[in-house]
Amino acid sequence: MKVAVVGLGYVGIPVAAVLASKGVRAVGIDIDPRKVEAVGAGRSPLEGDEPGLEDLIASGVKRRRLTATTDYAAVDGADAAIVSVETPINDETHDPEYKALKSALRSLAPHVRKGMLVSIESTVAPGTMARIVRPILERGSRLKAGRDFHLVHCPERVTAGRLLKNLTTLDRVIGAQDPRGLKKATSLYSKIVEGALHGTDWVSAEITKTTENAYRDVQIAFANEVALICEELGANAYRVRELVNTCPGREMLSPGAGVGGHCIPKDPWLLVSQVIHQKPVLIPTAREVNDFMPVRMAQLVEEAMREAGRRIRNSKVAILGLAYRENTDDTRNSPAIPLIRELRRRGADIVIHDPFAKTVRGFTVTRDLKAALTGADCLALVTAHDAYRKLDLGKVKRWMRHAAIVDGRNVFDGSVIARGFAYRGIGKGEF
Ligand SMILES: NC(=O)c1ccc[n+]([C@@H]2O[C@H](COP(=O)([O-])OP(=O)(O)OC[C@H]3O[C@@H](n4cnc5c(N)ncnc54)[C@H](O)[C@@H]3O)[C@@H](O)[C@H]2O)c1
Repeated sequence: MKVAVVGLGYVGIPVAAVLASKGVRAVGIDIDPRKVEAVGAGRSPLEGDEPGLEDLIASGVKRRRLTATTDYAAVDGADAAIVSVETPINDETHDPEYKALKSALRSLAPHVRKGMLVSIESTVAPGTMARIVRPILERGSRLKAGRDFHLVHCPERVTAGRLLKNLTTLDRVIGAQDPRGLKKATSLYSKIVEGALHGTDWVSAEITKTTENAYRDVQIAFANEVALICEELGANAYRVRELVNTCPGREMLSPGAGVGGHCIPKDPWLLVSQVIHQKPVLIPTAREVNDFMPVRMAQLVEEAMREAGRRIRNSKVAILGLAYRENTDDTRNSPAIPLIRELRRRGADIVIHDPFAKTVRGFTVTRDLKAALTGADCLALVTAHDAYRKLDLGKVKRWMRHAAIVDGRNVFDGSVIARGFAYRGIGKGEF
């Protein structure tokens, strides 16, 4: 069996590598030559800790089961194509931006053959399969979906840091338009997924995926709102959370410095984007609450520095963590970015440290923790990378000009106050 995987990112790379490990001939296609070159050479272009992925790619390439190219001609002869390109939203309007998806579909369409299965793994707004995906593929292939080729939506559930585990063990939803398409997709995905495969229609699959992430976002917003209440009323939100969760049926999440990643901040907008009559209120409000958290972090930085005897203008703030998620390099929609913008607006100079994330435009990252903290007036922790849990606070205090810590992830506790730090944290009205 041969399968083309279009889009070699956090989703496409593990999918291609796992397919190859199951004896499928997997061809990865991407417009980014660096990713193609890395995968083709048996390396993962993703940094951060992804257990097992590097080995799987290397062995797939060595056994000639996994190849990568920028040329869509490589789709020819494939039994199936999986599309896993990015589907972001517009920063201002929050509307879906399908530039990558449309371009990938236009390039793929001429290579779609009779009997082929096309599976869209990218997350899309409800209605996109019918309004955008099907017409582009039918126009470009001159074939009819559901009759000549089979088109399904099988949204992904991976998370950076757990790509292989999530991909292979979690249940999946397959939205299909025709029973044969569902059968073909079930047969393909049962090669790589140990979890159950749940068949449904296109729009239910689209709504299910975007709802999964909107649900998470609303839950995090709830925890964040409770954190802001605790800060003002003098309680510790993490302790309150533990107590709340002693009540049956309550599973409150942890608050934090903000929500990031490619998916959670944008999928709620994809979900509500097509609704005109019953305009949703809760889901956009949750986005607003979560988007406020980096601003709250900036307020806490200013407060902590004031206590340590330093004004924010021309101060040096060391940001610990640019990645949105611990122990990964993924900086997409990281709350560190609006936090840094807000601190710069308030006049602070920023140094960013991250053990994994690379520099992104306007946000230069150093790997040198000592250099980042030397002369700093405040340490603001955004990402709970393991390395930060093991910080030697004695050294940190000696390096810094003013001893102030702002904790966005509950990595420290009140004991840092006894060590001479001014300390503030999300949800910490009490330490
Ligand atoms: N990252 C996650 O954890 C995750 C989880 C579940 C679902 N998803 C969804 O999966 C999709 C992909 O996400 P990702 O994180 O892998 O994105 P990504 O940005 O890491 O990867 C997308 C890849 O597609 C490539 N690409 C863009 N246009 C292309 C084209 N015309 N032809 C070929 N390749 C093209 C890009 O160069 C990039 O390498 C998105 O819809 C996302 O919402 C992601």
